[in-house]
Amino acid sequence: MLRSALLAAGRSPSVRRLVEANPLTKPVVRRFVPGTSPEDAVRATRELSEQGLFVTLDRLGEDTLDASQADATVRDYRRVLGVLAEQGLADRAEVSVKLSAVGQFLSKDGEKIALDNARLICEAASAVGTTVTLDMEDHTTTDSTLGILRDLRVDFPWVGAVLQAYLRRTEQDCRDLATAGSRVRLCKGAYAEPESVAFQDKSEVDRSYVRCLKVLMRGEGYPMVATHDPRMVAIAGDLAARFGRAEADFEYQMLYGIRPDEQRRIAAEGGKLRVYAAYGDEWYGYFMRRLAERPANLAFFLRSLATQ
Ligand code: FDA
Repeated sequence: MLRSALLAAGRSPSVRRLVEANPLTKPVVRRFVPGTSPEDAVRATRELSEQGLFVTLDRLGEDTLDASQADATVRDYRRVLGVLAEQGLADRAEVSVKLSAVGQFLSKDGEKIALDNARLICEAASAVGTTVTLDMEDHTTTDSTLGILRDLRVDFPWVGAVLQAYLRRTEQDCRDLATAGSRVRLCKGAYAEPESVAFQDKSEVDRSYVRCLKVLMRGEGYPMVATHDPRMVAIAGDLAARFGRAEADFEYQMLYGIRPDEQRRIAAEGGKLRVYAAYGDEWYGYFMRRLAERPANLAFFLRSLATQ
């Protein structure tokens, strides 16, 4: 109930105005979002890299209906990739892209614009020797996103994609993508989805996550295990060992500000851990999904407001 309400609030312009206007919100948002500019993002990358962690940077700004905003997002990605290279960090960080931030929802030729824009970001990533991963948004975009992935991988075979274990289709998508050179980030899924397409029960989602992990670990691609769940982390390690994968043949991924001690522990024990750090002004939808995921995040937010 609470999760659905928070996810609905995450798409409500009036709640958005209320939350954004509160001056006390910003310090709390900083726990999950390291800053607004490419320089802030690169600073966070350096700090995380000094702790032995890898990074993927997401420029916030989903669901745009404005072509000039999509262009600005592309320019920002290209700039952040340039700054990463200048500062010698391109081997520590890649970028994650939401196709809805680069034009997928534009009414005229949205998919083509998103593909062209994603291609520009891939060219910039290729020039500095790093990779791009496509985020996955709600289920109405899955086919379009996987289609764009296929097109991009013709020229940039290292482009990765996110699959969401809560979707009933995902085990099959994992089979399709568990091929040589294919990078798949497996997460549980963060949107409010109908029962017709998604498992609703947490234990069903967890069971699906394990089935998908098995497919990816057994396959020939590069699994990226995106979860904070200690059970899933342990199962991923066991499956990697069972299928003869070395530490370099898969990686763990967690969100910026969530379980930082665990992130450092995995890295200290020789695992590869990549932190997903989102930056920019458009933090509202991302922030609300983090609150929806976990009552403790919401309690932290409310407590911070109460004690200011
Ligand atoms: P879940 O929320 O089920 O929690 C399981 C357990 O993990 C908890 O019981 C607790 O032990 C531990 N835990 C979780 N959060 C914690 C916290 N804040 N503090 C302490 N312990 C905590 N989603 C999507 O739909 N599309 C996408 O493209 C992405 N991309 C993405 C990238 C990366 C790198 C990550 C890590 C996640 C995403 N997600 C996503 C979000 C994802 O779908 C999911 O909503 C969150 O990761 C939460 O699910 P968990 O697997 O962490 O476990």
